[in-house]
Amino acid sequence: MCEHPARQQLLQRLALRLAALLLLGVASCRGSEFLEGDFIPAARRGQFHGQRTHWHDILGSHCPKFGVKRLVAVPLPQPVGHKVADEYKVQFSFDGDRHLTPWLSIIGKHAPSPPYVEVELVRTGNTIKSVSALVYALDQEDQRAHAPLVREFLNATHWPKHLLVHYRWRTQHEEDEEGGLLVLFSAGALVALLLGLNVARTYQDKLRAFLADVAGEQPGSGFGGAPTEKVE
Ligand SMILES: *[C@@H]1O[C@H](CO)[C@@H](O)[C@H](O)[C@H]1NC(C)=O
Repeated sequence: MCEHPARQQLLQRLALRLAALLLLGVASCRGSEFLEGDFIPAARRGQFHGQRTHWHDILGSHCPKFGVKRLVAVPLPQPVGHKVADEYKVQFSFDGDRHLTPWLSIIGKHAPSPPYVEVELVRTGNTIKSVSALVYALDQEDQRAHAPLVREFLNATHWPKHLLVHYRWRTQHEEDEEGGLLVLFSAGALVALLLGLNVARTYQDKLRAFLADVAGEQPGSGFGGAPTEKVE
């Protein structure tokens, strides 16, 4: 078979474009980008008496701020149908629904009393990589520092209660991510290679039409440069 070098070059360019699109697609699946101190959108829902509430947005003043250590008191309205002896669990979500905490027991026999929630947000560059959360008992010193809030929390008939939530940040360096990108680039290079060699040779015309379709351009109309005129 006689290969036209210009055609081959065109196909390779298209394959590289395809690989670039693939990478862009993957990149856009990552979480939102934040600047230092930006509010992280957050929501909470409750579980009690065998039922779950809907998600409720958390006000900015109770949300985490990107990269900033913060202690807030999140108000919890009286759950409809909640009995004094019921357990109450809460779940948080951050950055849309990208990161969920487990269900955290804050009232009832399995809950530390009075409780506070420690949320650890892991950041990589300007994105949130993961979130974890645990419930702890407030120590004596912190109980004294937040006495009215603790008194209300321990009073079974007092609502709304305020749950102390401590947001902590940990930075994870981007090595993992670079590793991931390396794999992606290798995959992209492999795609380009395959398209440039055997596949292109066998299905050249069909493939060219398909790729031209994908790229939304006519084959041979030129892609930035003019590879056909290039003399080596
Ligand atoms: C508990 O809260 C209720 C409602 O706010 C209040 O009426 C009651 O006095 C409180 N009990 C104690 C012991 O503080």
